[in-house]
Amino acid sequence: MSDAILNQAYDVQRVREDFPILARSVHARKGKPGKPLVYLDSGASAQKPRQVIQAMTRFLEEDYSNIHRGVHFLSQTATDQFEAVRTKVARFLNAPNDRCIVFTRSSTEAINLVASSYGRTFLNEGDEVILSIMEHHANIVPWQLLQAEKKIVIKVVPCDEFGVLDMDAYRDLLSDRTKLVAITHCSNVLGTVTPAKTIARLAHERGVPVLFDGSQAVVHGTVDVQDIDADFYVFTAHKLYGPTGLGVLYGKYDLLKKMPPYQGGGDMIESVSFEGTTFKAPPSRFEAGTPPITEVIGLGAAIDYVEALGRDAIAAHEHDLLQYATQQLSQIDGLRIIGTAPGKGPIISFALEGVHPHDVGTIVDQYGVAVRVGRHCAEPLAERFDVGPTVRASFGLYNTREEADALVQSLQAVKEFFGA
Ligand code: ALA
Repeated sequence: MSDAILNQAYDVQRVREDFPILARSVHARKGKPGKPLVYLDSGASAQKPRQVIQAMTRFLEEDYSNIHRGVHFLSQTATDQFEAVRTKVARFLNAPNDRCIVFTRSSTEAINLVASSYGRTFLNEGDEVILSIMEHHANIVPWQLLQAEKKIVIKVVPCDEFGVLDMDAYRDLLSDRTKLVAITHCSNVLGTVTPAKTIARLAHERGVPVLFDGSQAVVHGTVDVQDIDADFYVFTAHKLYGPTGLGVLYGKYDLLKKMPPYQGGGDMIESVSFEGTTFKAPPSRFEAGTPPITEVIGLGAAIDYVEALGRDAIAAHEHDLLQYATQQLSQIDGLRIIGTAPGKGPIISFALEGVHPHDVGTIVDQYGVAVRVGRHCAEPLAERFDVGPTVRASFGLYNTREEADALVQSLQAVKEFFGA
């Protein structure tokens, strides 16, 4: 289906009505109305539709209880609803079954789980882990912690000046010493979508498992973990229009089965004695303690919401916004976009000559425009592009072309203010 046909079906004004916060204004002062909120920071955290808020409220008001622990009615119904979301997440990722889905606190915790459990068990001194230059700190630091403990070696795949991953360099880095590849599926700074299927295939030719950080990727398009042949795939609920405090780890069951627990506590054991404890099979083995129950219900509602709009329709809408915003921003003198890889996601990071990004962020905020400024938890990448901090506008399913215009107008005001 062409973008045009999809876009006709996509009623963004109607979609916006689902997000109560988008109706608010910011910086209202005595006697002066505020500016309409232009939220271009969904890459940091997406806003929540009423459907998610209501599902969580309804659950808390009517069905809330702890799960997996009670014989009483509420515990049973809460457990059923919680586990139904696990099945939904499995379907959302096209995982072979729901035993491959582990709920964690965040993407970050999911990566730490793999680094700690798989990494500590199967990686030894001199073994190599391949990352890329465009990783978020969440997919760098856990491996460095492992490096300090196990003396593994970290290799880094570079990218070119457009932000395209250097696949020749990747091929060259793969060797008999490689024991794991951990790479983003979509850069949170450049928007680059990495060729996940090829990355996995090349690693698998050497019997090396691959972890993908899908935090930005699941939001902007359909992800099929079986088609990619990912060994591990992580994402976070709050960027997918769901609640904070909840992440997902998908793992091939054969791998999860071999991995020891990451944290110990209730609900992950078969039996406990002071002589020794035995553990449940995955995913329970990796879900120690009371999980974020209400948040899991919220994620279920978020997935329903996104699927009802249609993941292809959302992707087409966001692609249109990306193209339009890129075109408009490119007309601003002195504005340099960092990351122009073909097929990128709707994330635009840029520098404005002569103006510090924090000043840009602060001034556009006065016009109601919310962007992220800084190194976006990806300092090595900022170094690679020799830019330091940048401004990042990230678009979600509720953004409009008019909001891209508002960004451009507020940037013109920044330029006037600084005479830049
Ligand atoms: N990882 C989030 C971002 O890119 C916080 O902004």
